[in-house]
Amino acid sequence: MRLAVVGAGSMGAQIAQQAGLHGVDVMLQDQDPGQLHRAQESNRGHLSRRVEKGRLSQEEADRAFELVSVTTDLRTAVEHSDFVIEAVFEDLDIKRLVFRELDAAAPSHAVLASNSSTIGISKLAAETGRAELCLNMHFFYPVLVMDLVEIVRGPRTSDETVERALEVARTMGRTAVLLNKEIDGFIVNRILHAATQEAYRLLDAGVASFEDIDTAVEKGLNWPMGPFRLGDFSGLDVTYNARLHMFRTTGDERYRPSRQLEAKVKEGKLGRKTGEGWYRYDQ
Ligand SMILES: NC(=O)c1ccc[n+]([C@@H]2O[C@H](COP(=O)([O-])OP(=O)(O)OC[C@H]3O[C@@H](n4cnc5c(N)ncnc54)[C@H](O)[C@@H]3O)[C@@H](O)[C@H]2O)c1
Repeated sequence: MRLAVVGAGSMGAQIAQQAGLHGVDVMLQDQDPGQLHRAQESNRGHLSRRVEKGRLSQEEADRAFELVSVTTDLRTAVEHSDFVIEAVFEDLDIKRLVFRELDAAAPSHAVLASNSSTIGISKLAAETGRAELCLNMHFFYPVLVMDLVEIVRGPRTSDETVERALEVARTMGRTAVLLNKEIDGFIVNRILHAATQEAYRLLDAGVASFEDIDTAVEKGLNWPMGPFRLGDFSGLDVTYNARLHMFRTTGDERYRPSRQLEAKVKEGKLGRKTGEGWYRYDQ
């Protein structure tokens, strides 16, 4: 199986390397040569740390690194591929254009998968003449560590395409779950949103402090981080915008962003990256 990964940002670089670690021949493409260089540097660093920790031999690390070839040319990347994973910017117009280009350049049997977190495959498959070969394949950051892949069937995805995606996930050493319907947020983000929304409701209602809600979730549910700590870690603007997106697309009051979350974002207290969010982070 020959894999092509399009977009070498935080996700694409590691999707390609995870496949390389499992013996897959990968072409990694990005229009920006600087991004390809950074992807290679970062992947080499991850592999070296595994060698230092004794989890990988030097030969295995070299082999995994060499299995990922890079190019800025989309045609070169995909012309011999069997399976393509798109991981470019989260922008519908850019992804539509990329899917049109992929449909023209990839062999007619190649599956076109999108790693998008929010764009259902039907919007991209419509740009191609092979909707039955398109689906969402949603990896989690950081891909070299996080075991899960959500595979989402679009309204026109064939059973064979689903099987091929499940097989690619297995080959890459990742656990896959299958969604039979295209829905906003897939499984993980929907459950995370629901739990986080409940945490904000408790906070807004004055039931408990955010610290105590985090402690309850960490000690009582064994989550590694409570919702407020996790929000600070990912960026409160990210949490806020995701909520606003769900609220606007569903009109469902359950998704309306919390008043206190909105206030934090307006004050520019976005979490770790700004030194303060719910908690303070001394640099
Ligand atoms: N970051 C996450 O936590 C995460 C998790 C799951 C899924 N995703 C999804 O993965 C995708 C990529 O996210 P990311 O965080 O890696 O973004 P990123 O901004 O780090 O990387 C995007 C890359 O795409 C490249 N690119 C843009 N347009 C291109 C084009 N036309 N052709 C080739 N390359 C192009 C950019 O140069 C950049 O290197 C998005 O759809 C996002 O929703 C992200």
